[in-house]
Amino acid sequence: MSEDASPRNTNNPLIVIGDRIEAKTHLVALLQLLRTENGLLPEEDQIQYAVCKDSTQVALALRRYLNTVKMILLGPDLIGNSITVARMLSKKAKIVVVIDPQKKPLSIDAELAQAIQKNLDQLGVVVSTVSEATGHFFAPIVRDYVVDGMSVGIDLERMTPEERGRMIDARLDAANTFPSLPETQRKVAELDDLDPPKQWAEAIDPDVPTRTVILRLLNSARYGFRSRVETIEQAVALASARTIREIVTACQMRQILQNTNETTLDQYWRHSLATAFFTKLFALPANPDQQSAQQKSELERFQLEEEQLSTLRKAELWTRLDLNGTEDTFTAGLLHDIGKITMIMCLEDSLQLVSTLIESEAEEARESDQLWAHSTIEIERFLMQDIDHQVIGSRLAQKWEMSPEVIQVIGQHHEITDHSPALLKLVALANLAGNCLFPYPGEQHHPLPVLFERIDAAIKKMGATPSDRTVEEALSGDIGQALDGVVDRLNVPPCLWALIDRREFFKVCYLMAPKVKSTAIAFLQQTG
Ligand SMILES: [Fe+2]
Ligand SMILES: [Fe+2]
Repeated sequence: MSEDASPRNTNNPLIVIGDRIEAKTHLVALLQLLRTENGLLPEEDQIQYAVCKDSTQVALALRRYLNTVKMILLGPDLIGNSITVARMLSKKAKIVVVIDPQKKPLSIDAELAQAIQKNLDQLGVVVSTVSEATGHFFAPIVRDYVVDGMSVGIDLERMTPEERGRMIDARLDAANTFPSLPETQRKVAELDDLDPPKQWAEAIDPDVPTRTVILRLLNSARYGFRSRVETIEQAVALASARTIREIVTACQMRQILQNTNETTLDQYWRHSLATAFFTKLFALPANPDQQSAQQKSELERFQLEEEQLSTLRKAELWTRLDLNGTEDTFTAGLLHDIGKITMIMCLEDSLQLVSTLIESEAEEARESDQLWAHSTIEIERFLMQDIDHQVIGSRLAQKWEMSPEVIQVIGQHHEITDHSPALLKLVALANLAGNCLFPYPGEQHHPLPVLFERIDAAIKKMGATPSDRTVEEALSGDIGQALDGVVDRLNVPPCLWALIDRREFFKVCYLMAPKVKSTAIAFLQQTG
């Protein structure tokens, strides 16, 4: 059997074969069929195929051959999770999964295997066993989807929101895999800020890990309470209900993350915390005469130097954003990318596919001596068409009955317009700032930390220390131009720059970054 890993003509219809190529009956049958079909087709319509041995190569083949991929065969020897690949790519090309029930059944649990089969049926994915995958089996699929170019796409315009939600859930197999809302989170969400501390204690006390973290954090130097906080009742009385809510949310999320074995979760958590603290910091008035007592103590926790405070005062983000001070800033920042983690939970291995494309694009950028800059959401949409981490995250947030403001942040933080509410614009800015410190995923390729390193080096070269003036100077030359290019390619909504000049914004981020980083790391250490 001949192997054709890179098709000669990139305009011809293409079948991606995800399997190990050897004389297996289903492969022989498919290739024989292709030979027969090609005998009848003019050269420009002849069907080509590309062989991929693992799921990440399937993603790369899709990227490389864009719209010519008409069918993807996921065979029994594909390295990676073929069910995830089928779910992810089911609206991209016709997917045929061929399984070997002896070696690798859909699941060893018969009931679960049936549920997976039903779910794949719903998505239009064809599943066959090796012995049934004959030429007769492949012929109608190849004719309809490869020769005649029948579409597997979806017409989103014609769907009601409910239909769309159901379809997304089917692709995520959400009913089985969405994490449930943690109990303490639910109880605390039901409490009113003014409810007596005793009631708060009743909600939190049974959850010993969360209780321990709250007391540990409030007794740390950063919170600066003079007497020791021994009980949740004292904690609620001393700190605000809002502070307690924030810590509870962080603890509950952390617990969910710890239940998975994804290796990049720490990166994810650092990104979320950095974004949460930037969200909080940008929303706080830095002018003492505009601060409430609560805002004053929240700002003090960042331990900013006088010079940093003066930069914040000049930038006046809290005024420019027109915030009213009641927004749930920390939670919105912390949860904005919850869809990324949900995607990993619902589509095992999906991050690998996204990361592979990030790496391959970063590699190409390096070769042409450029900084890689592509938003993750575009890569997700490239692979999954109608699903991205915003869509997945807002499905989860709706199931968890989170506040409409937080649901909106989770679902729209990459789609800011002039009319977006202040909280959404704030989180979009804080997310950019968070990416300067801890991007996720693709930490090693993200251009913003690289640009920050260049600013470090430029200031060192001046023999100076970071300040308003030196950062401005560093940003006035090549580094500023590179930054402009990166921001453009990251598709940052331009209306954000109507709020604040973008170089000024990155100057603020750069000067605040060390304190936000130490605040996030301290919080991370205290919360486990
Ligand atoms: Fe995001
Ligand atoms: Fe983010």
